[in-house]
Amino acid sequence: MKSPLTPSELEIMTETARSAASSAYAPYSNFHVGAAILFENGEIVGGANVENACYGLGNCAERSAIFAGATKGLRKIQAVVVYTPTPTPTFPCGACRQVINEFGPDAEIVSLCDSKTVVRTTLAQLLPDSFGPKDLGK
Ligand code: THU
Repeated sequence: MKSPLTPSELEIMTETARSAASSAYAPYSNFHVGAAILFENGEIVGGANVENACYGLGNCAERSAIFAGATKGLRKIQAVVVYTPTPTPTFPCGACRQVINEFGPDAEIVSLCDSKTVVRTTLAQLLPDSFGPKDLGK
């Protein structure tokens, strides 16, 4: 990890993730998730989960945000904030961990919810011994 999020970065990202969660399209699970990604150029991009009647085609909030950033040409992730309106925090699913690894193997991961519990960890802790670009010489 480069350096942990500053309190003001965390505040802005929390607001971005909360606001994104309110745009979640989750009529099937009713589980609303918002994510905020801080890229190394300082840009923060939000995303929400978007489900589909064909259940397997839904997309998680983290990947929505990462793909939106990547589409703008952003390639280096410094930190990820995940917010759920729940009593306990939610961590990125396995697929999202792998996608975060592509652009931010050293990223900080922060999970927030509607209680005071905030969990701050790193992708390296959530995805040890990862397979990624380095294994393909990239
Ligand atoms: N979900 C996310 O968006 N991010 C996570 O970290 C965990 C799960 C979504 C996927 C699906 O729309 C809903 O939550 C229930 O699994």
